[in-house]
Amino acid sequence: MDTVIKVLVENTTPRSPLLGEYGFSAQVLVDQHNILFDTGSQAALFSNSAALGVDLSQVQDIIISHGHYDHTGAVLPFLEKYGGRNIYAHPGIFAHRLVDLPGGKQLDIGCRFTKEEAARMGARVIPIDGFTEIYPGVYLTGEIPRVTEYEDVGGNFVYEKEGQFYPDLLPDDMALLIDHREGLIILSGCSHSGMINTLDYCRQQTGRTRVLAYIGGTHLMTASPLRLEKTIEALKSYEVEKLIVGHCTGFYAAAQLYNRLGGQRVIKMEVGASFTF
Ligand SMILES: [Fe+2]
Ligand SMILES: [Fe+2]
Repeated sequence: MDTVIKVLVENTTPRSPLLGEYGFSAQVLVDQHNILFDTGSQAALFSNSAALGVDLSQVQDIIISHGHYDHTGAVLPFLEKYGGRNIYAHPGIFAHRLVDLPGGKQLDIGCRFTKEEAARMGARVIPIDGFTEIYPGVYLTGEIPRVTEYEDVGGNFVYEKEGQFYPDLLPDDMALLIDHREGLIILSGCSHSGMINTLDYCRQQTGRTRVLAYIGGTHLMTASPLRLEKTIEALKSYEVEKLIVGHCTGFYAAAQLYNRLGGQRVIKMEVGASFTF
């Protein structure tokens, strides 16, 4: 199962003309499948893909890791340019999502497309709420059980329903899992379920313990020192060959991971980075 993962959108860029943009998007080539995992928040997907020689017209399916703007912002522009596609996502991505800001204000950080808008452009949203094999050896986790006591969603997230506000636990957060012959490859958008919960669920569902790579945002940028410490201790005890972190990991957490787990294991991702397994 030959796999190539190329980072198309990430907060940081190593060189011009590649653009850094708050968000995440990666192209996943696995055997004959060409998948777009998330889309970033605005237009960087298109200019970065052009600069990297990635032909987005060849993308067969879109996977949405969760319903936040920085992962869904380029879905409609993509459909407009390249036509309808299957969009795999948890049905919870369309919640009306807000984040509390200082001074009592709220910011809409929700999904930047509706099911109806996607349908109008010829796309089909395929609901994924449980562990699902989408191609041989390629899985979507669906909702990830929250088991560890030290992990949380990573922010003051709320959603609105019929005028009432509720804490948003991001049940739609899911990872892409590739059951590679040499170990698991896990791709996560923001890891709102917690990186350890995500790893544990993937290991449990496949019965495999060796992880070739965990790639994505980890949402450790808001982690307490205790959470960070416990996460690092757990990672030390796991067979994880590469941790390729970025987006909402934050500088401090990435530096801690690098220092404590070593430069052989921890890589800070940036736009244009490509990983072959
Ligand atoms: Fe994010
Ligand atoms: Fe997020």
